[in-house]
Amino acid sequence: MKAPVRITITGAAGQIGYAVLFRIANGDMLGPEQPVILQLLDLPQAQQMLRGVRMELEDCAFSLLQQVTITDDPKIAFQDTEIAILIGARPRSKGMERKDLIEANGAIFSEQGKLLNQYAARHVKVLVVGNPANTNALIAMKNAPDLEPRNFSAMMRLDHNRAIAQIALKLFQPIRDIKKMVIWGNHSGTQYPDLDHAEIRGRLVRDILTYQRENETSVGQEWIEREFIPTVQNRGAAVIEARGLSSAASAANAAVAHMHDWMLSSHHNDWVTMSVPSDGSYGIPEGVIYGFPVTCKQGLYQIVQGLGISALGRKHMEESYRELIEEREHVKHLLR
Ligand code: NAD
Ligand code: LMR
Repeated sequence: MKAPVRITITGAAGQIGYAVLFRIANGDMLGPEQPVILQLLDLPQAQQMLRGVRMELEDCAFSLLQQVTITDDPKIAFQDTEIAILIGARPRSKGMERKDLIEANGAIFSEQGKLLNQYAARHVKVLVVGNPANTNALIAMKNAPDLEPRNFSAMMRLDHNRAIAQIALKLFQPIRDIKKMVIWGNHSGTQYPDLDHAEIRGRLVRDILTYQRENETSVGQEWIEREFIPTVQNRGAAVIEARGLSSAASAANAAVAHMHDWMLSSHHNDWVTMSVPSDGSYGIPEGVIYGFPVTCKQGLYQIVQGLGISALGRKHMEESYRELIEEREHVKHLLR
């Protein structure tokens, strides 16, 4: 039997928490051979709910789940943790942008960055889900100077999955055949869902869309710009409009997939989108957490290099970068 991995989930009593914990305990994130210890953090007023969640985890009798700790003390939750999924934060409601949450949520991530720096295992891998996720991840990373910056990431896998789903629906193609999607930039309305490299069984999606256009009035490019990009960019708001609550099960699924691929490996001949510290790739200067296409192997990721970027793509990528700089400026008092 392998040694268990310690996993911290913040905001564990919330919507995404409820959807993610059972997937992790079932082995969906780290595989069917990997035992886990869950260290669940939420606010004092959520402890009763958290007790109920722990009862349900027990009642599932998961064979991989070795221990569940519930607490409102981040020091206990982060002690020796090897994977920290930072969900605990306020969600937006109808009519808000994610960046409107900076005031409410930014301070959470400066405190948690400091505590991770002090209490977590030195190899801890961090996924920030709480919005605005990219800037919150930057805050946490900057407040954890003794941890490896490459071990901090923000979630754009949900956007990546949304983009793949839109192509599957448009072209009546199986999800598993759609490869090489990219979402550049910020997890916000400025993100750039880039179809230029996406393939289905080795053929460019772009070419398939162009072929289809012969019997259609709209052209592929027009569909990409008017339908595909805005649908993916605004999907979070559309879910809030429909449910009255922000996405939860799909967000949990994306978190599981993000950590699964990072810790184990991304699929052969494919890549995934992760928001990671920019390193100058694709002309995005260091200093922000930005969505890039990456390949992963056993805890390491590499940004895919050498992709051609269209003029439209460059415009979107720069706009998203500028938004991240504005967000960073707004929280500069939280970056040490
Ligand atoms: P929720 O309100 O249902 O749950 C949030 C939980 O966090 C609550 O239980 C709350 O008590 C807890 N919490 C708040 N502050 C905390 C703190 N300082 N420490 C520990 N716990 C704390 O919200 P949710 O729907 O689960 O969403 C959580 C966050 O995830 C929101 O910011 C939302 O916008 C974001 N989100 C991000 C993505 C993404 O793709 N990056 C997708 C969906 C939602
Ligand atoms: C999402 O993309 O669904 C989340 O970021 C929630 C939101 O506020 O849109």
